[in-house]
Amino acid sequence: MTLLDGKVTARAYKEKIALEVQEWVARGNRPPHLAAVLVGDNPASVAYVNGKVKDCEQVGMKSSLIKLPSDISQEDLLAKVAELNADEGLDGFIVQLPLPNHIDEKTVTLAIDPKKDVDGFHPENVGRMALNLPTYLPATPHGILMMLEHYNIETIGKHCVVVGRSNIVGSPMSILMARNANPGNATVTLTHSRTVDLKTECLRADILIAAIGKANFITADMVKPGAVVIDVGINRVDDASRERGYRLTGDVDFDGVSAVASHLTPVPGGVGLMTRVALLQNTLQAARGEN
Ligand code: GUN
Repeated sequence: MTLLDGKVTARAYKEKIALEVQEWVARGNRPPHLAAVLVGDNPASVAYVNGKVKDCEQVGMKSSLIKLPSDISQEDLLAKVAELNADEGLDGFIVQLPLPNHIDEKTVTLAIDPKKDVDGFHPENVGRMALNLPTYLPATPHGILMMLEHYNIETIGKHCVVVGRSNIVGSPMSILMARNANPGNATVTLTHSRTVDLKTECLRADILIAAIGKANFITADMVKPGAVVIDVGINRVDDASRERGYRLTGDVDFDGVSAVASHLTPVPGGVGLMTRVALLQNTLQAARGEN
């Protein structure tokens, strides 16, 4: 089994992005600038956003972290979004999800200028993605495509089964794998909680992408021998032996599936790192005005 190593792959892409940033700045441009808006102090969100800020520094980009209180009104958050839309010193920004319950995520997403929507969540950008037009690809699916490319994994004509239909991973992933693009050109099955006989569907997969948010959900008996398995899950499971009281585990039973799959991503150290690199790639694209 070949480990699809997010650390190695992310490092390779980051080196390339850092060089491109250097060239961009050497031509007289200011460094690409990404802002991340964090509402409240959800520990997972804090960790993600801090990681994103650190990544920017590593590749020579500028980053701004905008921390807002969890009781901010929707109106005030929308005012902040409008300010960021108008800020000419900023190439792109993200509003970290989930947002507190009193704020409507759809309204906030719609308020972001599609040209600065480096998450690729705005409906205009989702539509452009589906039509294979230039746009920002959502970071997690984009990172998975970069991983497949890095390991030269053939996708043309393969059967790809995506488990989970979320707006930020499963649904866009299914669209991207089916597009006439490279990587892409796969035959795709998008499965979800209402799928009948999920095991039979999964067993048909040459490429199985698990994005359901349930620890160890995909077991060895659901994987065709030789399949490529991509684990998008980041689940906390109680673990008294760890100082913080939990450990992170994916949607795939790593030990069992590693005996069956040809390629497998670890958690942590797999897709999560690629998500962050994809956001850097999108920010560079934003700075160059390529969307
Ligand atoms: N929460 C979990 N993943 C993401 C992401 O890719 N972008 C944003 N904005 N929030 C998230």
